[in-house]
Amino acid sequence: MEIIIEPDATALAERAGQVVFADLAKKPDLVLGLATGKTPIGLYEKLRARPDAFAQVRFFNLDEFFGVPPSDSNSFNYFLHFHLIRHIRHQEKNLHLLRGDVNDLEALSREVEEKIKSVGGIDLQILGIGKNGHIGFNEPGSSLGSRTRPKTLEASTLAEYMKNIDSRAPVSSFAITMGVGTIMDSRHLLMLASGSGKAEIIREMVEGPITSEIPATCLQLHPRATVILDEESAAKLKRRDYYKWVFENKWRVGQK
Ligand code: GLP
Repeated sequence: MEIIIEPDATALAERAGQVVFADLAKKPDLVLGLATGKTPIGLYEKLRARPDAFAQVRFFNLDEFFGVPPSDSNSFNYFLHFHLIRHIRHQEKNLHLLRGDVNDLEALSREVEEKIKSVGGIDLQILGIGKNGHIGFNEPGSSLGSRTRPKTLEASTLAEYMKNIDSRAPVSSFAITMGVGTIMDSRHLLMLASGSGKAEIIREMVEGPITSEIPATCLQLHPRATVILDEESAAKLKRRDYYKWVFENKWRVGQK
């Protein structure tokens, strides 16, 4: 796991943009997994600055609320169109975003797994982290080998989401999410976290034991996980200074 600590959320977004564009430069038809939540919004602003870079990119996303159609502003599909897709050059045939308005989530889950396989797997998966350690909608207790499937959300996850979107409208307690195993199959993971509210869970994710109680700890097992934090979310890391030193000095061994 590479830990990069930036001064604030603006610098975090800038750095995350560099990571995405670096992967894109190596593979213009990148298979890119998108994430929702407040955290990646700054990154999506950076990506919008180079709209032509995405013409060949294949898009997937982590999760979606059950029963919420793409036209609903509470859907993740809507969120991703709003913050990214409508601003960039893309091909409709390359958009594989989940839709929540299906009858059979199990069937959709199987289709998603097949689709990811048929494009050769996800190259770069963007991730945020929930305060309880979830990634996608893989709540605590999710099998670390799980695949895309329907999932029931914890009340705290739903409450956090409602607070974020400043809404009282009921969003579904049911969702579809890529599994932890599905996420782990991605060739490169890019996790972003910002703000003091994430400091405790980031400490557990980076320096705590691997456990399905904190699904994000699976990143410790991934061969190529880049974690970009701001100072606030990195505040509780025991080896904070070490991570900073490593990042600043890795050019010495030809890694920069
Ligand atoms: C939701 C999403 C996650 C996201 C998390 C954190 O639960 N399903 O993918 O990482 O929220 O969101 P935020 O970035 O707003 O803290």
